[in-house]
Formats: sequence, C-alpha cells, structure tokens
Amino acid sequence: MRKIILLMCVAAMAACCGEKAEAPLSEVIDIALENARTQYTLMAEKYEPQEGRLPKSWVGKVGEEGGEDISSDSRWWCSGFFPGTLWYLYENSGDEKMLAWARQFTDRVEREKYTTTNHDVGFMLMNSFGNGLRISQDAAENERYKEVLLTGARSLATRFQPHIGLIRSWDHNRDKWQYPVIIDNMMNLELMLWAANYAMEEGFEDAAALRKIALSHADSTMVNHFREDFGSYHVVSYDTLSGRVEMRQTHQGYADESTWSRGEAWGLYGYTMMYRLTKEQRYLTQAQEIAKFMIHHKNMPTDYIPYWDFDEPAIPNVPRDASAAAIMASALVELADFSTPEQAAEYMKVAEIQVRTLASPEYTAPVGENGNFILMHSTGGFPFGSEVDVPLTYADYYFIEALTRLKNRL
Ligand code: GLY
Repeated sequence: MRKIILLMCVAAMAACCGEKAEAPLSEVIDIALENARTQYTLMAEKYEPQEGRLPKSWVGKVGEEGGEDISSDSRWWCSGFFPGTLWYLYENSGDEKMLAWARQFTDRVEREKYTTTNHDVGFMLMNSFGNGLRISQDAAENERYKEVLLTGARSLATRFQPHIGLIRSWDHNRDKWQYPVIIDNMMNLELMLWAANYAMEEGFEDAAALRKIALSHADSTMVNHFREDFGSYHVVSYDTLSGRVEMRQTHQGYADESTWSRGEAWGLYGYTMMYRLTKEQRYLTQAQEIAKFMIHHKNMPTDYIPYWDFDEPAIPNVPRDASAAAIMASALVELADFSTPEQAAEYMKVAEIQVRTLASPEYTAPVGENGNFILMHSTGGFPFGSEVDVPLTYADYYFIEALTRLKNRL
C-alpha cells in the first residue's frame, strides 16, 4: 500500500511540475501486481461464502458509496477468469491464501467439462484448470485437472462439423444464423490443442482428431473471418448443408462491416497462441498482420486503449474497452518472442504503453473500490447497452497475464 501511495505521489508531483517522470517498468509491474493481490483478497473473501458464485462485474461509481456486485454461476462464459487470475496472483506472490482460493474457485467451474451447448468451454476451463495444472505442484490434483481438461475438450469437439470444418459457437438465434462461428472462438483452440497433445502422450485414439479440429478451425477462420486489411467480422455463419459461408455479420460490434475491438484482440491472441502451439508459419504471419492492423489503425488512440469498435463514427466520444487493451497487450508480449527484433521492439513499446496506462489511476481503481475489480472502463456488449464502462473479469485476467509475461521478459 505504501508503495502504491508513493508511486501516485511521484506521478502527481510530475504532473504539477509539468515534467514527465516515468517510474521504471519493473516497479510499475510490481506495484500493479501487489495492488491486484490486495483487491482480489477482498474479492475472494467476499465470494468465499457465496456457494457456487463467481464475480462477473460491478455497477456503481468509483469514489462514491454503494454499488452493486454482479455475479454468475459457472454457466456464464467468463466463469474461468476469476480462478485464473487467482492462479496468476499465487504464481507471482507465493501467497498461500491465493493458492487456496485458486483451488476453491477453480472447483466451482468443474461441471462445465460436460458443456456441449456452446463453445465457451475453452475459456472456462483453460483459464481455471489449465493454469492450475501449470502452476500447482500437487500430483493428485494435476491428474484430476487433466481429466477435467480432456473431458472438456471432448465436449467441445462435439460441436465440430467436419463438412463445415469449424466448431459451432452458439445455439441461440437459430432463426437468424444456421451455424454461427464468432472470432472469439479462436480462444477455445488452446484447450483443444492441449487435449490433443495430452491424448497423444497417453496413446488415446482421438489425439489426431482433436488436433485436426483445432487446425481446421483456425485455417477456416483465417480465410472467412478476415477482410483484406486484416480487420475481422464478428460472426460468420455457415450453410449447414453446403458448408459454405451464408453471411458475415456483427453481434457485439458497431456494424457488420466494422471491426469490433475485442473481437480483433481475440484474433491477435488466438493466432499468436496457435503459432506457439503448432509452430505453423501461417499463424505467425496472421498474428503479425492483425497486430499491424490494430497498432496502425487511424482510430487507435495514442495510449493504445482501443475504443470499443474501431469504426464507431462517434469516435472519440465513445467508450474505450480496457479488456481489448489487456488482451492485446498480453498477446503482443508473446508475439514479440516469435518476431524479428524490429517487430518485437514495436510490440513491446505498444504493450508497455498499454500496461502503464492500465496500471495508472485512469484505469486502475483504488483498493476497496470498483467492487474489488482491478480495472475500470471495459465494454461488454455496447449494442445492447450491456456492461458499458464497467469492470469485467476478463479485463483483469489478461491485464495480470500481461504483467506476468512482461515481468518474466524483463
Ligand atoms: N466472448 C464474448 C465477448 O468477448 O464478449
């Protein structure tokens, strides 16, 4: 806490003297992680007695009394993010309380391994059980987590139609779309590839099929979801008989032909992750082209926190999306590892600006405020007036992941 106040004083003094005093990045990271640990301690204490519940968002005004916690059960697509952030905070601090909570809240998501009615199983399980498997040192727990992940990937695989070549995203809006696939679905391929590798090690016969599903989905998304400039469509729907594209639309973006910022960030992260896990050059090229689109877009602000949609006509008078910035920052730090020195320097410069901005009082809430979320100012579903300028679990998750990746790289 003392460190946080000190940093804020330095920033305030610099502002009043008209100087640009920049704390070393390593210090910014340490303070942001410590601040996050304090906030998430309060969050975990609050949710521990609420059986089966997980934080989702908060509605209120930072700095004012009141406000309302918004929670969900494990069915909400974001249920894995809070446990995932707890795992990262444990990894960064060694705080045993964080470990106990990470385990406890991860278990709250376990039943999602049987979910076959949407594509979000990867988000739910990889961030919770996947991080747990990576970080936990408990052999029995690791075996149990592997079973959950494999079962989850097999559930997700039931949503793949070979003649279409993609995993179906949603079952809702059946009168509108025959077979909707959203750009976000790229993120679920990490679970699929983890399962393919594990199944291969164990000699399970579906190993090759699971890998084929992931690559097929990534390849078809590359062809059908992106425009020539590498901006993306949010929803591409396929004809269930012919397997061909029937329409390209938006759901959470401004317009069918606009580029929804978080969707583009999912694409950047998704193809970077696909390259990490397959070393297929085409995925690296795709990720680098998406990075170019985002970094050099005429509507990207100088602090690199995107407006909620790149093509919203009312820019700059529209909400930002801190979640898109956090996802992008985390992806760029990883992409830098795979890129030329020139590209890496650009990605790291942008990620650093994003992280410094997110870690500043402009986006990071004071301890004890903001419903105990770390970041303010994310946008969930602007077109429906849902979750506009609020904290969201996934903004926090990718921010902490970006801080961890940066810390490991420094
Ligand atoms: N996957 C849903 C979203 O990004 O809002």
